[in-house]
Amino acid sequence: MPQLANRQVLLGITGGIAAYKSAELVRRLRDAGATVRVVMTPAACEFITPLTLQALSGEPVHLDLLDPAAEAAMGHIELARWADLVLVAPASADFMARVAAGIADDLLSTLCLATKAPLLFAPAMNQAMWSNAATQQNLHTLTARGVRFAGPGEGAQACGDTGPGRMLEVPDLVSAAIGVFAGGLLAGVRLMLTAGPTREPIDPVRYISNSSSGKMGFALAAAAADAGAEVTLVAGPVSLPTPAGVSRIDVITAAEMHAAVMARVADCDVFIGCAAVADYRAAEIAPQKIKKTGETLELRLVRNPDIIAAVAAHRPRPFTVGFAAETNDLLAHARQKLERKGLDLVIANDVSRSDIGFGSDHNEVRVISAAGDGEPQNGSKQAVARALIEDIAHRLHATRAQTAGALPAC
Ligand code: C5P
Repeated sequence: MPQLANRQVLLGITGGIAAYKSAELVRRLRDAGATVRVVMTPAACEFITPLTLQALSGEPVHLDLLDPAAEAAMGHIELARWADLVLVAPASADFMARVAAGIADDLLSTLCLATKAPLLFAPAMNQAMWSNAATQQNLHTLTARGVRFAGPGEGAQACGDTGPGRMLEVPDLVSAAIGVFAGGLLAGVRLMLTAGPTREPIDPVRYISNSSSGKMGFALAAAAADAGAEVTLVAGPVSLPTPAGVSRIDVITAAEMHAAVMARVADCDVFIGCAAVADYRAAEIAPQKIKKTGETLELRLVRNPDIIAAVAAHRPRPFTVGFAAETNDLLAHARQKLERKGLDLVIANDVSRSDIGFGSDHNEVRVISAAGDGEPQNGSKQAVARALIEDIAHRLHATRAQTAGALPAC
């Protein structure tokens, strides 16, 4: 059955250049089985015509709060009740501000105030507007009230800037909508994960590190929070924004990451080791910048603690998921890692390919467990993260059900 079958999605469109993507979004939501009704703000109509949305949705498009014809048929309260989900894409800075302030001066903002359906906003704006303290405060207010956010993504913007503020791509928005209905799969679950690289100093200005971008771990943290988990993200040095609803602990070195994780492992039900932890660190950190004195320089390195192996060996032990980023013999290495580190699952990905893995926005992974190897799953890191979180949730619940069944009856 399509994942949005029997779901009624009210798509709100506000004024922003990303509104051109909303036409495609209507089609893909319908492909996923949803019935879609569109509400547009006056500014949205400057970017895309109601006629286009009407043709694509197969439903009348709603524009005005005080429309006698609409009131007779489908007024704002009726629309608010009709929706199983209100998805606003693009959500402009102005729209976020008006909803945060409880203003209801047009059809879409009124609907957001009147509906009991979940609200999912896909922000789209210039990077400076997104980073502005007012917008960040509004984001905080809305998140605290239960509004969910999909994105924004980072990258080149229509205005020529680069940074956070791009509306997510259509497949990611459809996954986010599906995620709202799948939400709750991890309700009450405490999930900790590591993400990004670690940085091991050699002297005050140099370090050993790797090219992990942290994108996969941050996408997993966002997907886990969307699924209702209480998420702690222990992040190495990356400059990604913290996903909504996630508590973040920043660390630099593997030793700091190890300490942050072990201090909290007793209070966690699921652990995902997504960080690319440096295996070695400098045996001694030079107190001053090392000078070029000879043709060669020898550094003595010592092993870092294996964080995920320490988590898996801890009692009580969380459901423990590792990553195997490999350049060759992917599945064999992943299976070895599963056994050697005592993990429940290993997510294997081939980092020799430039189109997926480190730095890329896309990934292809296979889930390896003692029960066997899963099929390859690919897509944007957000889509892969949602699929993985759903898979982990099902396996966690199955493990818990087995453990409960194994307890003697009292
Ligand atoms: O040993 P390797 O680095 O190949 O294993 C990868 C998995 O182990 C990842 O889940 C990574 O987060 C975790 N790891 C760790 N601590 C280390 C090295 C790897 O938690 N020191």
